[in-house]
Amino acid sequence: MGKNLTLLLSAEEIAITTERLAKEIDRDYQNVPLTIVGILKGSFIFIADLVREIQIPLDSIEFIQLSSYKEKIISSGEASLLLDVELKSIQGKHILLVEDIVDTGISTSTALEILKQKKPASIKLCSLLDKPSRRQKDVQIDYLGFSIPDYFVLGYGLDVDQKYRQLAGIYYFKD
Ligand code: IMP
Ligand code: MG
Repeated sequence: MGKNLTLLLSAEEIAITTERLAKEIDRDYQNVPLTIVGILKGSFIFIADLVREIQIPLDSIEFIQLSSYKEKIISSGEASLLLDVELKSIQGKHILLVEDIVDTGISTSTALEILKQKKPASIKLCSLLDKPSRRQKDVQIDYLGFSIPDYFVLGYGLDVDQKYRQLAGIYYFKD
């Protein structure tokens, strides 16, 4: 699928890292009821794999959706809310926000702000990928899978123009 796609992270590497992150989460949230909040759409596969590796019972799995208008590989500096989560799912709860990738940090910091307004008991961030070279907003990633170079990546939930999400590994375009 796609001629110039180069593999960055194989399905096996991702699975090993997801298992490692789940162990860290299990360790930190023993005896603490945990609510997972995923940011759609990019994190849907990562969340499905992550929650199946997490052994502690989860309180709830929720989703929010942001649009960053970055479908065409541009960064506009805004993120708008497309799907919100109910107040009662967040208020007084221990929240783990799960993201596919932190790039400029704009989407993630917007999502954190939206959730903090709903007064959670605590909030932490898990991201599969981090592209630190492009950061505009300071974001603390509590559970990180991989730090990657400034490539536009796709697969494993990540898209270009809504395509390529179905790939089992993570790829980038070789130019
Ligand atoms: P940020 O707001 O710039 O941090 O970008 C976060 C969002 O942009 C992610 O949740 C992705 O949906 C998208 N994004 C950023 N970098 C990439 C990439 O390399 N491939 C696919 N989507 C990306
Ligand atoms: Mg996304």
